Amino acid sequence: MNNETRSAPSATPSPSQTSQTGPTGRRIGIDAMAFAVPRGYLDLADLAQVRGVPAAKYVQGLGVTQMSVAAPDEDPVTLATDAARRLLRGAGVDPSQIGLCIVGTETAVDHSKPVASYLHGLLGLPSACRVFETKHACFGGTAGLQNALDWIAAGSARGRSALIVCTDIARYSLNSPGEPTQGAGAVAMLISENPRLIDLEVGRTGCFAANVHDFWRPLYRKDALVDGHFSVQCYLDALAGAYAEWRGVNGETGGPASESDRLVRTCYHVPYGKMARKAHQRRCQIDGLDEAAADASYQREVEPSLRLPSQVGNIYTGSLYLALLSLLHHEAAELAGQRIGLFSYGSGCAAEFFAGRVRPEAAALLAAIDVTAPLRERQRLTFAQYEELRKGDAQADQRPADAAGEIERGAALHLVDQRPRYFGIDPQERRIYAVQ
Ligand code: HMG
Repeated sequence: MNNETRSAPSATPSPSQTSQTGPTGRRIGIDAMAFAVPRGYLDLADLAQVRGVPAAKYVQGLGVTQMSVAAPDEDPVTLATDAARRLLRGAGVDPSQIGLCIVGTETAVDHSKPVASYLHGLLGLPSACRVFETKHACFGGTAGLQNALDWIAAGSARGRSALIVCTDIARYSLNSPGEPTQGAGAVAMLISENPRLIDLEVGRTGCFAANVHDFWRPLYRKDALVDGHFSVQCYLDALAGAYAEWRGVNGETGGPASESDRLVRTCYHVPYGKMARKAHQRRCQIDGLDEAAADASYQREVEPSLRLPSQVGNIYTGSLYLALLSLLHHEAAELAGQRIGLFSYGSGCAAEFFAGRVRPEAAALLAAIDVTAPLRERQRLTFAQYEELRKGDAQADQRPADAAGEIERGAALHLVDQRPRYFGIDPQERRIYAVQ
């Protein structure tokens, strides 16, 4: 046994003291992003009416106005494929450039075969590609993203890019407190050297982990189980822990070293908008701000990131990145060159706080991708249609592919379009997909 006492590693100098992108001295980060949602959504006012709850509880109390609802022919594979295709087309990226493909999900479709394998096939990615799935509740996408940053920083990319897709369908039991915090969707990110959207600070993150039972989903269940109010506390504790480590790593325990190091905006994991507000309040408390200053800071520094999430609901792994897309969609031009913070939380739990700088090219690129198109393509569901889809959802995994006619009838409630679809399982219980 080695009794040698090792001293803690010393804090790295602040971003302005070295390169603004971290110890590698290279620019590595998110080159392009796009998201996808199912074709249908439920307005929370409609849900509130049926549940006998004032709509204000959901809209103001939780900060959610609409939630996306998946049909039986939509699943984490089709959502991931849709988001990735929008990214590749909109950003003009050839699939042959991808050398790493990671899917973060907590609603996988198979205990063994990863969503990433289906995605790899449906997109026609190169066979010389590392492909796998990551899971840690809502943190799974961040695990993939950090892995991709390290892959590039280590030199394994050899000029290629990584495709990271966060995809989930958030389900709680009908008529439970979690019901208004459901959602479904995917966010695709291309991680590259010399990125066009945001340079991320590789090697400067703050982590936190603890073994807690705030939210879980046993293998036999589609709906998650949650200790709701405890989960809020776990999220806030994890934020405090990850932020403290991040401040230490960046030499910022006494505040940013210079005005240009200030985090002008922060995106949080958004299970519902109010949670991001609580998170920001907690961070402001840690930074020594009073309540009025914290409220003003929230309006300016967080609210723009909540506009897209409030129309989609919780998409688990993708929620933080949908918040980032929302921020960039609304403010990329004015944030060019500015430093922003990102906080990822996954129940169970794991959390990470990290930062990056918005690129001057970001606004033009996002306009070319037309990021909000998926919302314009949606159709509002009635409560009865929502209930019907949830019933179909329960059987979709065992539905024989030759019963696609039934799926077709469900899908006919919505727009007919060019999206990938899940048709059901074949006699060997293999899932069948097609891109029309
Ligand atoms: P609840 O107990 O029904 O709601 O469920 P509540 O009574 O706490 O009310 C919610 C808020 O609405 C409160 O505001 C009320 O005051 C307000 P707050 O005190 O929090 O500021 N309110 C109203 N406002 C205006 N008008 C009214 C009105 N009535 C009440 N008339 C709960 C809330 C979040 C617990 C529930 O929705 C739930 O269990 N959700 C799922 C769990 C969750 O989202 N947890 C978040 C942290 S954990 C996390 O983020 C990880 C996760 O994404 C999973 C993963 O990592 O994989 C979930």
